[in-house]
Amino acid sequence: MILPSSLYGFSRRGFLGSALALGACQPAAQSQTPVAALPPLKSIAPFPVGTAVQAGHLNDPALARLIVAQASQLTPEWEMKMEYIVRDDGTFRFEAPDAIAAFARTHGLGLFGHTLVWYAQTSPAFERLDEGRVSFAQAYRNYIHAVVGRYRGQAVGWDVVNEAVAEDGEGWRDSLWSQRLGAFDHMVLAFQNAREADPNARLFLNDYNLELLPKKRSTFLRLVERLLAAGAPLDGVGTQTHVAADQTPGEMARTVAELAQFGLLVHVSEFDVSISRAQGLIPNRADLERRQAALYGEAAEAFMALPPQQRFAFSFWGLRDSESWLKREDASDTPLPFTASGEPKVAAAAWAKQIGL
Ligand code: XIL
Repeated sequence: MILPSSLYGFSRRGFLGSALALGACQPAAQSQTPVAALPPLKSIAPFPVGTAVQAGHLNDPALARLIVAQASQLTPEWEMKMEYIVRDDGTFRFEAPDAIAAFARTHGLGLFGHTLVWYAQTSPAFERLDEGRVSFAQAYRNYIHAVVGRYRGQAVGWDVVNEAVAEDGEGWRDSLWSQRLGAFDHMVLAFQNAREADPNARLFLNDYNLELLPKKRSTFLRLVERLLAAGAPLDGVGTQTHVAADQTPGEMARTVAELAQFGLLVHVSEFDVSISRAQGLIPNRADLERRQAALYGEAAEAFMALPPQQRFAFSFWGLRDSESWLKREDASDTPLPFTASGEPKVAAAAWAKQIGL
């Protein structure tokens, strides 16, 4: 199968190009008390356990070993996003996502694609498209076909539309995509294009703060309903679940349960529990870490309460604290299940306990 190599269809540059070094900076990690040995998370979970990765992580032998031991599925943290794939001239590059896909194949891990359409990411190549040269809808289709088609047969699923709902729950976000293709239609089109490009990949609508903002959650649920009513090939819903340690207990569990109401697959897609984002009401770090562990337990319990056939995967947004994206916001944050040296934390043990260890 020949896939488009640029927004405009085909170009001589093909897939060549060099990777940008845009990985997360890695300040010195603050470590938390590890627990005594824990069996690998994937060995105790009756569903896929995912983690976000960057291609560069795979060159760190200790981290690569931890990933292979603990996780059964990989989500590229940013290198399958438009910011990486589409060059300013409209051609595509795939070095980093190809490296992640190759690692997944070598180690028998699943690959989850993230993300095709995101209000936060556009490209100058899309922005300057005029209808005279190639229709916007054609370029949109070329992009989705090139990316999804490249990993056809390997990717188990895709976040097709990411973060579509406005933060205040008043409708959907405005974006280049909504402006050029329609607020609702661009989403339906994206799902249709993705389905055409890989009929076997499971297709997701993914969003965040659903546990924090009930109005946003309800708008998200209405959007799912509307997409299904319009015949969009939507197979699952993703709740990122980037929460803070002061998250009100119970809301995460309620969210996961409500998302299951359509009978679709449910993906806890980007789980982490920030210590630093907790508002100053709980000033003691030890208390925050206890709350963090309780939230890890709550998330695992909520996921286990789903009918088994709806448990798509539970994905952490990284394994070791040292790689967390939240380090860029506050270098002292420790939101992930493993310490910087790869030891399981109390939070990991709380998660494992609810899975049935
Ligand atoms: C973040 C990554 O962790 C960063 O490395 C990247 O630079 C920006 O995006 N919601 C999402 C993810 O859907 O794609 C975001 O990932 C985190 C929030």
